[in-house]
Amino acid sequence: MDGSAQQRQPDPKGALGPRGKGLFGRLFDGLRGTPVARQEAISIAIASGKGGTGKSFLATSLAVLLHRQRRSVLVDCDFGLAADHLLLGVKPTLTLQQLLAHQATVDQVLVTSPCGPRLLPGASGVRRMANPSDKDLIAFAKELGGLAAREEVLLLDLGAGIAPATVLTMLGADWIVLVTQPEIAALVDAYAVVKVVAQLNERARFLVVVNRVSQPGRGELAFQRLTEVARQHVGVQLHYLGEVPDDDAVMQQRLGQLPLVATDPEAPTSRAVQRLVDRLLQLCGDLRPRSVDSESGIEARFRQHRLFL
Ligand SMILES: Nc1ncnc2c1ncn2[C@@H]1O[C@H](COP(=O)(O)OP(=O)(O)OP(=O)(O)O)[C@@H](O)[C@H]1O
Ligand SMILES: [Mg+2]
Repeated sequence: MDGSAQQRQPDPKGALGPRGKGLFGRLFDGLRGTPVARQEAISIAIASGKGGTGKSFLATSLAVLLHRQRRSVLVDCDFGLAADHLLLGVKPTLTLQQLLAHQATVDQVLVTSPCGPRLLPGASGVRRMANPSDKDLIAFAKELGGLAAREEVLLLDLGAGIAPATVLTMLGADWIVLVTQPEIAALVDAYAVVKVVAQLNERARFLVVVNRVSQPGRGELAFQRLTEVARQHVGVQLHYLGEVPDDDAVMQQRLGQLPLVATDPEAPTSRAVQRLVDRLLQLCGDLRPRSVDSESGIEARFRQHRLFL
């Protein structure tokens, strides 16, 4: 990594996308007073093109390790097929479904996992949630804004692919961790995500994790192929976060058990995830909350980008 991600300062206006603030934003600018600055959590979307690349495994593992240094909440944004609660060993009674339907408050829905981080569980097997309405997305953005105002890091575990709600969450986040595998099919799908997101926001910032690597160093080779294609075809510079080895111990974890990073910190994957955390801190300004105004926070970015999807 070249450190350029670190040097790039948060750009509140840029965070609104290439089309800027939009007509209404500009029209109302003159009517508003000076926006009030406040602190907001750094949001990190965990995304992939192909399904099953290990997003939920990594999101839950990262949440456990990161929470030791920063107050972190994991939000299961796999609308309709959520599973993070199983990987964290918790049994929630309420989910995002009740939250977005205004049947529960965020504090009623949040669960604290035995390993520390809190989880905003998603709904599983609920068809309505798999295809959230515009009203749902606005309610979701508002809840994320509320959480961001009081936490240090928000990890957003997404479903695979480029469904509108998934792309919107990537556009709303400060950073996108793209999880891929060394195989060509996974790299091609990862490139497709970069292309779609970069077309909507040329300032989107991608960090790449290559998971299930069979030999050390294969991850970086795969990353080089991906970043070269992304640079040539969409002019996007990707940043390498690291690789995670393929390890049967991950598959052998039973649902409902505690994550491997907690039960076996010396396992090869646990050590690799710790390296990812160290690098995240290094690349993302130490993951300290950042100053935002009413137009550059996560809720505002959701609202703005939603208009262009
Ligand atoms: N490093 C690894 N070594 C071995 N198995 C792994 C590794 N990472 C993930 N897996 C396994 O791959 C499968 C898919 O992982 P996971 O559910 O985290 O993927 P996902 O990207 O969240 O999937 P989806 O796209 O369906 O949300 C799981 O069975 C998991 O145990
Ligand atoms: Mg998943």
